[in-house]
Amino acid sequence: MLQTTSKEVLISADQIQKRVAELGAQISKDYQGEQIVAACVLKGAFIFAADLVRHIEGVAVTMDFMAVSSYGAAAQSSGVVKILKDLDTDIGDKHLLLIEDIVDSGLTLYYLSEVMRARSPKSFQICALFDKPSGRKADVSVAYAGFEVPGRFIVGYGLDYNQQYRNLPYIACLD
Ligand code: IMP
Ligand code: MG
Repeated sequence: MLQTTSKEVLISADQIQKRVAELGAQISKDYQGEQIVAACVLKGAFIFAADLVRHIEGVAVTMDFMAVSSYGAAAQSSGVVKILKDLDTDIGDKHLLLIEDIVDSGLTLYYLSEVMRARSPKSFQICALFDKPSGRKADVSVAYAGFEVPGRFIVGYGLDYNQQYRNLPYIACLD
C-alpha cells in the first residue's frame, strides 16, 4: 500500500519541535560540562536523535547507533528483542544516554537496559520522545520523556508502519 490511508494528525510538527527543544535544554542542564554518548536506537529514533542533539549545549556529545529487531509488519510487540547492530563505543565508564522513539510495552527498553547496565557505564539514562503507558508490560524508567500518547498506533517523525511514514514531520494516527 502506498501512503494513501487516511491519517489523523495527533501532534503537530511545531509541537514536536518545541518539546524536543525542552528535552535538549533539560539534558544540557543535567549533564553540563560532562561527556556523554548519545546512542540512537535505529531506525525509529533517527529523526528525533538528530533534532535532539542539536539542542544539547555545554555537553561533549559523541553519537552512536544501534539497531534492534522491530515488530516487522505487525503492530504488536512479540517481546523478542534482537540486537541487529550493536554500539561501536565501549561505554564502560561513560555517561550513556539511550535515545528511543517510543516506549510501548517497554520490553525493548527493558532488555536494552539490562544489556547496557551489564557494560558498567558511568551512568545510564533513557530519553524517549513518546510514551504509551497503556501498553506497558515491563517496568522501565525513562528519565526524559516527550509526550504521553494514547493506546493507538502512531506514525511519523521516524515512526513507521511497515517501513512507511517515517518521513512525516508530524505524528499521525493510522485508521
Ligand atoms: P515496546 O518494546 O513495546 O516498548 O516497543 C518499542 C518499539 O516498538 C518502538 O521502538 C517502536 O519501534 C515500536 N512501536 C511501538 N509502538 C509504536 C507505534 O505506535 N508506532 C510505531 N512504532 C511503534
Ligand atoms: Mg524503535
